[in-house]
Amino acid sequence: MRTTLIAGNWKMNKSVSETVLLISELAPLVRDDIARGVEVAVCPPFIALATARDVLSNSGLKLGAQNVNPEAKGAFTGEIAPGMLSGLTEYVIVGHSERRQIFGESDAFVNKKALAVLAAGMAPILCVGETLAENEAGQTEAVLTRQVAAGLSGIAPNDLSRVVIAYEPIWAIGTGRAATAADAQNRCAFIRAEIRKLAGAAADTMRIQYGGSVTPANAREILSKPDIDGALVGGASLKAADFAAIVAAA
Ligand code: 13P
Repeated sequence: MRTTLIAGNWKMNKSVSETVLLISELAPLVRDDIARGVEVAVCPPFIALATARDVLSNSGLKLGAQNVNPEAKGAFTGEIAPGMLSGLTEYVIVGHSERRQIFGESDAFVNKKALAVLAAGMAPILCVGETLAENEAGQTEAVLTRQVAAGLSGIAPNDLSRVVIAYEPIWAIGTGRAATAADAQNRCAFIRAEIRKLAGAAADTMRIQYGGSVTPANAREILSKPDIDGALVGGASLKAADFAAIVAAA
């Protein structure tokens, strides 16, 4: 049985004081859903993580970071090491398409991050997904096969159940144009089948989220699908009521 994980990726939004406000608003709205077994996480900017940790204590909310550098320490100006996050966050998003596209992160670099996050005792949320051009060229499955295999490379079999995959078709991110629930299910099932080829039964324990224009209006149908174990939510996670409505739909 896979626990549904609804995670909010706040991206480059919310100051420290706005983080306090949003978590304070959100916590009471999702308390009952957490009590019935839905896992709920928020991923504020790095600078707000320590404050967020204090504000969400006793709420049952989990905390995630949006990125990490795989190195342990050293001359990497502006970067954050896994050891700086462990003890603070449960999750770390790695390989988000914005990191891959805007900051040029490779499959190999994303894999190093996933391994470093696991080694530091946290769980990676490994993002995969095709561009619009790849989708229209019929390359979606090839892209997913490559990103999943590279992203999971070298991860010990008994660590795999801690890894969360987020299928985020890039054309659906921030566009208001979500994948249909049927398409999202098909892609997530395809990813699970790829994992099964690589790692056997671990595929049934790993959670696969859908992300890309998830809203209160489409969440219920998307989250009802058998291979979709949660959502990675961008824009709609910035409003407590909207995010709580998505959590309630899980
Ligand atoms: P939106 O929900 O704003 O489309 O963003 C999705 C996303 O990128 C989450 O990581």
